[in-house]
Amino acid sequence: MSAIISVKNLVKVYDNKFTAVKNLNLEINKGEIIALLGPNGAGKTTLISTICGLASITSGSITINNMDVIKDYRKTREIVGLVPQELALEPFEKVINAIRFSRRLFGKKDDDVYLEKLLGKLQLYEKKNNIIKSLSGGMKRRVMIAKALSHNPQILFLDEPTAGVDVELRKDMWNIIKELKADGVTIILTTHYIEEAEMIADRIGIINKGELLLVEEKSKLIKRMSVKTLKVKLKKTLKQIPKKLKQYNLKLIDNGNSFHYFYNTSNEKTGITSLLSDMNEIGISLFDIQTEETSLEEIFVKIIKD
Ligand SMILES: Nc1ncnc2c1ncn2[C@@H]1O[C@H](COP(=O)(O)OP(=O)(O)OP(=O)(O)O)[C@@H](O)[C@H]1O
Ligand SMILES: [Mg+2]
Repeated sequence: MSAIISVKNLVKVYDNKFTAVKNLNLEINKGEIIALLGPNGAGKTTLISTICGLASITSGSITINNMDVIKDYRKTREIVGLVPQELALEPFEKVINAIRFSRRLFGKKDDDVYLEKLLGKLQLYEKKNNIIKSLSGGMKRRVMIAKALSHNPQILFLDEPTAGVDVELRKDMWNIIKELKADGVTIILTTHYIEEAEMIADRIGIINKGELLLVEEKSKLIKRMSVKTLKVKLKKTLKQIPKKLKQYNLKLIDNGNSFHYFYNTSNEKTGITSLLSDMNEIGISLFDIQTEETSLEEIFVKIIKD
């Protein structure tokens, strides 16, 4: 796959001297769905804003289709659609007029056939003559998507598309996003819902404090993430992990009264049987044993902390 967006050594320092993005490098492949995860204030919206040319770049460079987003602002902006984090709609405007207007902003000729098809895809066709004020929150979000797609962009940015959206609607939104991908649109979304990234993303990027901590194929990341913890409470306190057990990467806790063993359920062998038999062999008795499922949420937090 070829890169449609290329971010190189991006630094963004706001006017108040706050550094929101620190030397970030990222290549986004044509036709993929990439989800950016990160806590509040991580720099996700800032990154998107610089790519879309809405925020200035302090240093580094960004290209879209090999065109510089600063030098070729008009051309690159035309290729992208952005659904901003905050709802920004004219309450008394009719749905169809709102998206016609967005299309005209890009200097594109009117094309109601395309726009009506778009509304159909977003399940808004019946509402096309309604004023925006009369729509539900989820419908308003879809109008924002329709606006962002009104000029046939190749790339769509969705900044927290399902924040505050109920489970059913969230699933609808995921289907819409998958359909857009099938149409060849490259999609970059930010989200606080790890499940969302899990459901729809091809790759996942984790951002914290302005740094991209990792970008990885979802399947690989999830394999790595599906860790379980075995907590073994010992009869006698251990000062350190005995040599025989070094291979298990145990972590002593509770002042040596217990240890944690981490294992991956996607592996063929968990290693628990051999751990217990090795313990038995060197005379370490256990008092109690319990397993804990590490939630994706927790692992995400762990990555951020580490
Ligand atoms: N215009 C601005 N001037 C100064 N600082 C800003 C400005 N916009 C954002 N910031 C700061 O930059 C950091 C990153 O903000 P950003 O909105 O990119 O985070 P985010 O990852 O999108 O967070 P959230 O998940 O809450 O949307 C924050 O500390 C924020 O306060
Ligand atoms: Mg944001």
